[in-house]
Amino acid sequence: MKRIELRDLHKTFKQFANKEVTVCGWARTVRDSKNIAFVELNDGAFKSVQIVVEKDKVKNFDEVTRQNVGASFEVKGKLLVTPNAQQPFEINADEVNVLGECDLSYPLQKKRHTVEFLRTIPTIRARGNLFNAVFRIRSVAAFAIHKFFNERNFVYVHTPIITANDCEGAGEMFQVTTLDMNKPPMKDGKVDFSKDFFGKKVSLTVSGQIHEETLTHAFGKTYTFGPTFRAENSNTSRHAAEFWMMEPEMCFCDLQELMDSEEEMLKFVISYVMQECADELAFLNKFVDTSLLERLSNIVSSQFVRLDYTDAIEILQKANKNFVFPVKWGIDLQSEHERYLTEEVYKKPVFLKNYPKDIKAFYMRQNDDGKTVAAVDLLVPGIGELIGGSQREERLEKLLKRIEELSLNAEDYAWYLDTRRFGTNVHSGYGLGFERLVMYLTGISNIRDVELFPRTVGGIFG
Ligand code: 4AD
Ligand code: MG
Repeated sequence: MKRIELRDLHKTFKQFANKEVTVCGWARTVRDSKNIAFVELNDGAFKSVQIVVEKDKVKNFDEVTRQNVGASFEVKGKLLVTPNAQQPFEINADEVNVLGECDLSYPLQKKRHTVEFLRTIPTIRARGNLFNAVFRIRSVAAFAIHKFFNERNFVYVHTPIITANDCEGAGEMFQVTTLDMNKPPMKDGKVDFSKDFFGKKVSLTVSGQIHEETLTHAFGKTYTFGPTFRAENSNTSRHAAEFWMMEPEMCFCDLQELMDSEEEMLKFVISYVMQECADELAFLNKFVDTSLLERLSNIVSSQFVRLDYTDAIEILQKANKNFVFPVKWGIDLQSEHERYLTEEVYKKPVFLKNYPKDIKAFYMRQNDDGKTVAAVDLLVPGIGELIGGSQREERLEKLLKRIEELSLNAEDYAWYLDTRRFGTNVHSGYGLGFERLVMYLTGISNIRDVELFPRTVGGIFG
């Protein structure tokens, strides 16, 4: 089947004027009158094509008009440029092959559905405009990330999914075991994990960072981009149990340079998506979030705010707001606080830095004040925390002491500490929640609508 794809055809249709082309796809609509029928055919490109089927030309005209929305076709016909019509061209069919029929139980019979309904049909929802736009943008954004790092000498590394370490130390891990849950081997009243597959207790990773850091100390600049898992019992629109994280790590790089590189990366990815997905973004701007395009262009041209946690606390305390969670130095900011800062005070992305050490992970660099660490989160309007990162503690004794203070098992991290033993250096890195980025790029407000089969607490489909 030598077909031409609609994404290409929409760019090059003029050179096919009055020529024979073959296209394949699924019917979005089938309309017919006595002697003529119109099939709106879509092959995954955002824009469909209108197929004109004439009774006296197409021998299986009756078979074609019997078809329903969702049926798949191969069409050979002549491309006609139609400058006065809504669509720039159409295809006048010579031959139509019905490839796969579709019965009336197909759920996308009408054009508009609620996102809540579409969430119940994850196997089908990407065949409509909304999820077509979302999943194209997701794909283009992932590519833009690879392009950005590849052009800047970063090495892309695949870090392990199964791990014996809790990178964030927050105890939110999904355990992986082959033990019989009904009759696990016991020793001294506890489950004996020495009998488990790996001879110890292991889990799905919450972040590739600490494994990645070992390779960063070989290449200088690396990034990992893959699935991560968190058994957080947070049933919110921004938390998923399985999500993708993109984590760059850079040697010879301090907190300032880290923020510079985050800002550059985000602007690059947004610009690239705006360039490659103009149709998809125009649609989302019309139907999902009418401030989307303006917001994205503003971000590319604006400078992000850089604010100390301690100053942010002061701003929040002075704010004339009734926050549900009271504000005092030392608290982990809640979404209401983050949103106030980015949406009301600054109206743009804010780097919040130098957090209290007690609310951040063990590997973050301790500041001289003894109270804070060189952590930085990027907060953005509408989402809250998009990126979490820090300068890393490169001083072995300080890192060992912190591991001890937090009652982590030093033996578990011995391999990680090699990076500090052999040629340690000022280094930094961050983790971008990829679904949150896709939400930000699309205006979609629920994480369940940017993953193909979302995994969130309390339920699973497929
Ligand atoms: O801030 P986090 O926990 O940072 C880390 O895991 C570091 N090890 C990253 C690094 O420095 N290499 O997570 C990073 C980002 C968050 O800012 C957020 O965007 C996203 O991951 N994230 C989630 N996204 C969806 N669902 C969840 N449950 C998420 N938890 C974190
Ligand atoms: Mg974080």
